[in-house]
Amino acid sequence: MSAKRTSPQPETARAVAFQALRRIEQQGAFANLVLDGVLTRSQLDEQDRRFATQLVYGTTRMRRACDHLVDRFVVRSVDDQIRTLLRLGAYQLHYLSTPDHAAVSETVELAPRKARGFVNAVLRKVASQSAVAWPNAATEHSYPDWIVELLSADIGAETAQAALEHMNREPSVHERSDGYIQDPASQWVCDIVGAQAGDTILDCCAAPGGKATLLAASGATVVASDRRFSRARLVARNVVRTGADGVSVVVADATALPLRPATFDRVLVDAPCSGLGVLRRRADARWRIDADGIGRLSRLQKEILGASTNQVAVGGTLVYSVCTVTTAETIEIAATVGDDFEPIDIDLGTGRWRRHGDHGVMVLPQDHDTDAMSAFAWKRIR
Ligand SMILES: C[S@@+](CC[C@H](N)C(=O)[O-])C[C@H]1O[C@@H](n2cnc3c(N)ncnc32)[C@H](O)[C@@H]1O
Repeated sequence: MSAKRTSPQPETARAVAFQALRRIEQQGAFANLVLDGVLTRSQLDEQDRRFATQLVYGTTRMRRACDHLVDRFVVRSVDDQIRTLLRLGAYQLHYLSTPDHAAVSETVELAPRKARGFVNAVLRKVASQSAVAWPNAATEHSYPDWIVELLSADIGAETAQAALEHMNREPSVHERSDGYIQDPASQWVCDIVGAQAGDTILDCCAAPGGKATLLAASGATVVASDRRFSRARLVARNVVRTGADGVSVVVADATALPLRPATFDRVLVDAPCSGLGVLRRRADARWRIDADGIGRLSRLQKEILGASTNQVAVGGTLVYSVCTVTTAETIEIAATVGDDFEPIDIDLGTGRWRRHGDHGVMVLPQDHDTDAMSAFAWKRIR
């Protein structure tokens, strides 16, 4: 009779974090999905689950900085597994208040026996030399060079660095009165749309439905469309969950909307974007997004905004928003709106927004501890 097979489960928060990090770093798995899986299968208590989460997200965000902390003392190449462990150890030593001896000894425990002496020696050196000469801002704040360079060129080096530094912090959580979790900056975009009871509004990139459900709360009728069925279904679920009234969910490509032209009082184009303004919510996103993707996205954004303009009734309002501040995805897209539309100077709202381009606005994470967001608005004049 064969013995019942049970796969060995990691017991400690560090072991669970290590297992998750291996899959994120070596297999390119999504951090949130991997973490969900390993936590579900683990026996950790609530406190240890929080610690494992902090270790996974923190080590993932600070990957490049941790490599620098370690590489000061490593002269030979190390295999992927040991690299992950050294990052995990360096993260605890440099960024958390974990006592050094616990961070070192419990991380060393996770190493294969033959590598323990090496991991121990390196982590002890990291612990003993906390003063770090960072070679550049991208290493210190742990971002790919291209992100630091692009944002510095677009919004200024100092401002970009403050934004990037802020996005290494844990995001705050804001719950609306209907239970939906939504960043304030997204809610402020809805204020710009300015929904009124009785309006007919099109939200043509609507999933998962945060803005559509908030717009409907004003008493407006909202057509919430998204390109993929699976995404539209998320909107439908959130409509039910929040109890929003007056939202119709549609599957439609916003570059070719199957709707009668010039019929909406307000159209919101909350376009797909690089997401550089929400990096604090997605620990691994900075290593995934590629610089070339911005060019592809900006072409799609132009196409979506161009097609959506046809849906705005004369006298109606068009709003374009993205959770990024790169010039290519904001000012350059806004400049393509034709002369049937007159720009609206969005009110800066007593320090809520900064001016972005001639008439648009943006908010940066360091301003009010929100996501970064940009928005532009127009009135259709003919
Ligand atoms: C920034 S998200 C929208 C967030 C949403 N407005 C909210 O507040 O919850 C962008 C959305 O655009 C959708 N999208 C991408 N390409 C599209 C297209 N060609 N037509 C319509 N939707 C598209 C994506 O599926 C994604 O759900």
